[in-house]
Amino acid sequence: MELSTIESHDIGTAPEHQPVPAGAAKKVFVKTYGCQMNVYDSQRMTDALAAEGYVATDAVEDADLVLLNTCHIREKAAEKVYSELGRIRDMKAERAETGRELLIGVAGCVAQAEGAEIIRRAPAVDLVIGPQTYHRLPDVLARVRGGQKIVETDYAIEDKFEHLPQPKRAEVAKRGVTAFLTVQEGCDKFCTFCVVPYTRGSEVSRPVAQIVAEAERLAEAGVREVTLLGQNVNAWHGEGENGGEWGLGRLLLRLAKIPGLARLRYTTSHPRDMDDELIAAHRDLPALMPYLHLPVQSGSDRILKAMNRRHTARDYLTLIDRIRAARGDIAMSGDFIVGFPGETDADFEATLKLVRNVSYASAFTFKYSPRPGTPGAEMDGHVSEAVKDERLQRLQALVNEQQQGFIAGMVGRTISTLIEKPGRRPGQKVGRSPWLQPVIVDDKAGGIGDIIDVRITKTGPNSLFAELA
Ligand code: SAH
Ligand code: SF4
Ligand code: F3S
Repeated sequence: MELSTIESHDIGTAPEHQPVPAGAAKKVFVKTYGCQMNVYDSQRMTDALAAEGYVATDAVEDADLVLLNTCHIREKAAEKVYSELGRIRDMKAERAETGRELLIGVAGCVAQAEGAEIIRRAPAVDLVIGPQTYHRLPDVLARVRGGQKIVETDYAIEDKFEHLPQPKRAEVAKRGVTAFLTVQEGCDKFCTFCVVPYTRGSEVSRPVAQIVAEAERLAEAGVREVTLLGQNVNAWHGEGENGGEWGLGRLLLRLAKIPGLARLRYTTSHPRDMDDELIAAHRDLPALMPYLHLPVQSGSDRILKAMNRRHTARDYLTLIDRIRAARGDIAMSGDFIVGFPGETDADFEATLKLVRNVSYASAFTFKYSPRPGTPGAEMDGHVSEAVKDERLQRLQALVNEQQQGFIAGMVGRTISTLIEKPGRRPGQKVGRSPWLQPVIVDDKAGGIGDIIDVRITKTGPNSLFAELA
């Protein structure tokens, strides 16, 4: 699960399809698009609504409030929201005949980017709320119930995390033994293809005490693995507990001391923010999992420059050498864009060369999608859809081959596995390897939340089968 892969993810609880009796708790259905930061935000919004008496449901037909937490990163992601809104509008119209209300809210990066335009295009929408103001959701809902349509897309000056309620212990436990924790938001890098600096605002780091307290609450509720999140997570910095300036490496060392937290991860990082301390943490901290998502986008210096990535292909490869020297078994993951304006065959070949050079355990590949308001959209030399398609296929084939090679190389090895949940088949449980693959084990191999050593016996397309070592 990387910043770029989750196309849609429903946050919800007990599936109940009976009609809601009068006077029962109101229900909210949240649908999440985009990255893990949205998954985290959806949980925090659900927690804020729980404090207002809303119960989460994963059956949209039962909902009194539908909240779409949206993504603006590529055109397709943004367009999905409008087709979903069409379906919900029809539901709302049917509902109106029975007298039961259905409120529709749009949150996330499309909300921030398009604001009131969403209500113009989809008049059934009651509220539009940007990612920086989720703590105002209860107040916004109260005003919506008073008959207003609300667009709330300011960048709040107050810290939303200070004001968002923490989930109840039972709720955390229900969400499982792995959890996300946003430590950093926003981006000041302004890559020329990307909307994130506009939808999420400038870089903000949450304070150490707030992060530690949240991680402790997670651990107390049984969470064993925490993934720290940020659009530029390794740009995180803050005042340490001893007064000095801390970077992400130092924060990870601190979090590793929390009893119960056995595994730490972080995503997504930018190559320019991988400092010595963070690289050293990969060497010194066994709890820091040997998997690093480090997007590079292109292997061509010309294109990297046009993208405003502010590093060369050589810089990136040198960095990976240093990371691998610190932690030999680290698996690399990345993001790539094909068909950025001006990309020639030679530029694309340079990307293939870089991929061969690094050898990725996984990678996410995208066709360049011009985004309104970004410099890239205005550049000359847009690449045809046919060429983008062809390049995407070639790059995907290479990446798949590397991914399969990585998984095949695990057969016979003994690895640690965090048992996460019951398997799809009876008699099985599913765990997670240090490199993020699902590991299928016998039900009796251990309980949920246990970390056990297993021997890999065979592989599936993206999973591992194992027996107790
Ligand atoms: N902060 C992260 C990436 C966040 S967006 C970083 O700097 O690496 C996740 C991924 O979406 C990016 O890495 C990029 O590969 C892809 N992406 C972003 N904008 C895009 C666009 N306009 N078209 C295609 N892919 C895009
Ligand atoms: Fe987007 Fe670049 Fe910021 Fe990543 S670093 S979020 S790609 S602008
Ligand atoms: Fe999408 Fe916003 Fe995340 S644009 S990728 S949901 S930061």
